[in-house]
Amino acid sequence: MQNNPDQFTSKIGFVLAAAGSAVGIGNLVAFPVAAAKNGGGAFLLLYIFFVVAICLPLILAELSLGRATGKSPLGAFKQVSGNNKAWAFAGALSLTTPFMIAVFYSVLTVWLLGYFILAVFGQLDRLATPVYFGGFITSPWIFAYLAGVIGMVVLVLKGGVRDGIEKASRLLMPMLFIMLIGLAVFVLTLPNASAGLKFYFTPQLDRMTWSVVNSALSQAFFSLSLGMGILITYGSYLRKQDNLVQSAKMLATTDTGVAVVAGLMTLPAIFAIYPDTNPSELSDSSVGLIFSFFPNIFMAMVPKFGYLVSSFIAAMFFLLAFVAAITSLVSIIEVPVAALKAQGQKTRNKALGLVIAGVLVGAGLCALSFGQVKWLSEFAFYGGAKKSLFDVLVDVFYDTILPFNGLLICLLVVWQWKRHNMGAEMLASNPNGTIGWLERYTHVAIAFWIPAILATVFVITVINKFFS
Ligand code: PHE
Repeated sequence: MQNNPDQFTSKIGFVLAAAGSAVGIGNLVAFPVAAAKNGGGAFLLLYIFFVVAICLPLILAELSLGRATGKSPLGAFKQVSGNNKAWAFAGALSLTTPFMIAVFYSVLTVWLLGYFILAVFGQLDRLATPVYFGGFITSPWIFAYLAGVIGMVVLVLKGGVRDGIEKASRLLMPMLFIMLIGLAVFVLTLPNASAGLKFYFTPQLDRMTWSVVNSALSQAFFSLSLGMGILITYGSYLRKQDNLVQSAKMLATTDTGVAVVAGLMTLPAIFAIYPDTNPSELSDSSVGLIFSFFPNIFMAMVPKFGYLVSSFIAAMFFLLAFVAAITSLVSIIEVPVAALKAQGQKTRNKALGLVIAGVLVGAGLCALSFGQVKWLSEFAFYGGAKKSLFDVLVDVFYDTILPFNGLLICLLVVWQWKRHNMGAEMLASNPNGTIGWLERYTHVAIAFWIPAILATVFVITVINKFFS
């Protein structure tokens, strides 16, 4: 049991791997900026409320479904629905969602790797020029970086669960924590950093609108990698004796902790360099912030620290974001790999080869959708604008389908699998056999307000994105 290569070796091994998935660009940039724009401390409290009230029960549902069936989402859905035709659709979604997210997320990861390498090679001044990003993402170099990123993912996933995913997470996650804390400490020593802290922690209740509430929930949902099938798949790699409820709590705490600490790095950095920043004017897009705004922040450090030190800080930041992204990418590519492997009874390497070939083609097309190829750049038209293939994948799969998948999980657990089976799975690994508050809460919430809220979010997103 201890040495099964298809399982995590311990609870900590699992938590590090799942945190590798959960900690991503969302934590490092999207969360701090959303908090600064949307009411500081009030947003923070709302976010934590959603993590506990909505996300923790869903983490538990996904993990217990995975562990009880020992299957990837596709197999798990089939098994608990008794091969019900209506649920075959959900099974298909559980395969296409992670695949499509992997496609556009690899493009983001490629850009981060590129900016890291360019910062290392002394190109910070060029990164900080306004036109650089547009040229960079349309240059043929992108494909070399893509080969590098996919090569790294293959290297990890070829090793399987214990010797690949867990081993890489045990190495990379502590590295990520150290870099993050190092950068936060550095930033906090800059003059005027406290202005950022003030914005971060002062609750501004007047900014609490319905759309802020919605964005806090979506942010928590994405940040915890919910609705992507990742936690079902990772749950199937959890040993029976590892405590599910504790693991879920540790995962939620780590992910939220990283997001909160990232705020101590990102916001003071912005305010130390641009004391007059009005947070509500910061870009909504993490892409714009990371690749256009941040290089300027590092460049503005040059008069004080010199070019070398500033480039070093920039390189550290991009490496941190790259590590966060690649561990997320690994987890999402593992979902279709696991499904194909089980489905066609293929070897791991065969399944991996097939998925990677697909991701390479998809990511290649996505990478060409920034003006180089017309039909990819003007792939669709909705919401009053032409959308590139990249935009479509983000809008459809990341923004819209994820909450819908969350809703499907609730329905599946309540109507098909039955909640007492979920309860039994949670209890299976509980040493003293007592039922805690979270298990009790999950039992009720998953049948009532969680699906109702997710359905509402889904409908509102569809209307706003595609019909406004
Ligand atoms: N949780 C990640 C984040 O916060 C999102 C993600 C996870 C994206 C896994 C892709 C794959 O950025």
